Amino acid sequence: MATKLRSDSGVPAPGETVVRFVVAVRIVHWINAAAFAVLAFTGAAMYGAPGTRWVGHRDVVRNVHLWVGLAMFVPLAAAFVASPTARDDVRRLARWTRDDGRWWFRSQRTAARLGKFNPGQKANASFTLAALITLLGTGAIMKWYGPFGDDWRTGATFVHDWTALVLGLVVAGHILIAFREPEALRGMTRGTVDAAWAERERPRWYAEGVAAASVEATTTPIGAHGPDTIGDSDTIGGPDDADDRGIDPAAVAERR
Ligand code: HEM
Repeated sequence: MATKLRSDSGVPAPGETVVRFVVAVRIVHWINAAAFAVLAFTGAAMYGAPGTRWVGHRDVVRNVHLWVGLAMFVPLAAAFVASPTARDDVRRLARWTRDDGRWWFRSQRTAARLGKFNPGQKANASFTLAALITLLGTGAIMKWYGPFGDDWRTGATFVHDWTALVLGLVVAGHILIAFREPEALRGMTRGTVDAAWAERERPRWYAEGVAAASVEATTTPIGAHGPDTIGDSDTIGGPDDADDRGIDPAAVAERR
């Protein structure tokens, strides 16, 4: 059954949800989180961090660290190649809009109409990806240093350690913020968020979903295809900065 997008009063009906993250994206995110936990623990143990002295079998620890570090890129790459929706999320994370610029200023924040991700999330995603690639490259030099020599090995170790430390702090911040925003957390666990939250916190993304659903409604018999909830990036229209292309998603949403 097709979802009723708005109640008669013009606001999302109570209990109405929108799809935020498809299964492929959620699986990759949680594999990534688990891999990061293993890497952080095994890395700390190799470093001899307090609280890890009881960990024996250093060779096993080193191998787990190495292979988990290499393997974590496989699901990331697979989702990127196989899932158009995952690629759409990546594209949205990489695209900055004029409203994102306004968001950084406290005085202008309430006026900023955000797309699917806020600028903090976009900065976090870019930093996280850059840090993971840096860790992969420096880790490979540390492991297979033969062709590089001792200077490279020393330099790579320095960069690897500091990058890991800063990434650890950033991830800790990411987790704290996630637990302070239960609706966003629900998006990454169950896949859907409350429509009222989406409209309030991510109005441009919400409006895109409403616009796409209205196009579907005029071209498709109700229930013929597509998800019952809106916001699945496979079905929604343009990018976050749709207004830059002369489309006003807000106006489209208001017409409904
Ligand atoms: C217990 C651990 C974690 C929790 C609870 C968590 C929670 C979340 C949530 C709720 C979102 C979706 C935010 C939205 O609605 O847009 C998200 C997105 C994301 N997560 Fe995590 N996460 C965890 C671990 C990690 C780790 C270890 C990494 C990477 C090393 C990571 C990287 C990302 C990235 C790049 C995004 C997309 C951009 C963003 O929202 O910042 N997460 N996470």
